[in-house]
Amino acid sequence: MIETLRWRNGALERIDQRLLPGKFKYIKCKTARDVWDAIKKLKVRGAPAIGVAGAYGLYLGIAKSKAVTYKGFYDEVKKCEKYLAASRPTAINLCWGLSKIVSLVEKNKKRSVDALKKIILGEAQTILEEDKKICRDMGKNGAGLIPKNAVLLTHCNAGALATADFGTALGVIYSAKKKVKKVFADETRPVLQGARLTVWELQKNGINTVLICDNMAASVMRSEKVDAVIVGADRIAANGDTANKIGTYGVAILAAYHKIPFYVAAPVSTFDLSLKTGKSIPIEERDGDEVRKIGGKCITVKNMKVKNPAFDVTPARLITAIVTEKGIIYKPNSERVKQIIEINQ
Ligand code: MRU
Repeated sequence: MIETLRWRNGALERIDQRLLPGKFKYIKCKTARDVWDAIKKLKVRGAPAIGVAGAYGLYLGIAKSKAVTYKGFYDEVKKCEKYLAASRPTAINLCWGLSKIVSLVEKNKKRSVDALKKIILGEAQTILEEDKKICRDMGKNGAGLIPKNAVLLTHCNAGALATADFGTALGVIYSAKKKVKKVFADETRPVLQGARLTVWELQKNGINTVLICDNMAASVMRSEKVDAVIVGADRIAANGDTANKIGTYGVAILAAYHKIPFYVAAPVSTFDLSLKTGKSIPIEERDGDEVRKIGGKCITVKNMKVKNPAFDVTPARLITAIVTEKGIIYKPNSERVKQIIEINQ
């Protein structure tokens, strides 16, 4: 399996996902600023992966701290947390990873600054290791939903490149590999995570993969008899409304129309129970050039006005089930989400 993120010799190494599939290259992040930049520019992306990267970023941000008191050190930790959290607003996993570390620092007030630095690095490593097990458990739980000879459709990239292991939605596909006949991958405009990343990793893992443009999904669902759609998530509200890559909402509507089950695979850390519904999920608006250009080349009128929301929200009623590492939430609503998530968060 591809190792998207790894800690080597005091630096976070990560695959530069902007270069894929043309070039496979690890880049070192040696400072919090490097990590911020990598997250902002989608060099590392996908909700769980940015959760892990953010945690290491926090360590890198305080590793050289000269603070001598707990107060001085804590202020630096909080400042760095705020800085990294601002790199991307939608995926809750980033804030989740950062706040896990901050709480640990708060619980260890009596320890020396050097000891706290070690605790922070240890926690970042734990978050990475835990994500591996979470992916595997999610994969196992979701595999049972996939029928024999399954024709599947996915949107964006919720695979190894988006996590520390084999992914969320794609993890389910890898776990059910023997039953999977074919996977259609939406190209996922504007940044083409499907065309550049998903098809690359599915093929690498021996999955029969077909790339389609986003606007082909409806027609493919009908003509190719798609059995299920499976996607990842960036933030899930208490009632099951799910934010994921822009276009996911449209795919869910198409799946409902064609009576195709629509599954979301996401770890417990992707749930934000502080938000009652998906209406309050902050949606990142990205640079308009992502829409105006493809491969650096302008494809429209120069300086054309565009809209570029990176995510949309799929209402819970369009979701057949949410697969988590702790179990499956069928027909998600506030009650059913609570049953699985509240006790596990
Ligand atoms: O903008 P991106 O590429 O970070 O968006 C990623 C997605 O929308 C994924 O589907 C989501 O993060 C789930 S990843 C396991």
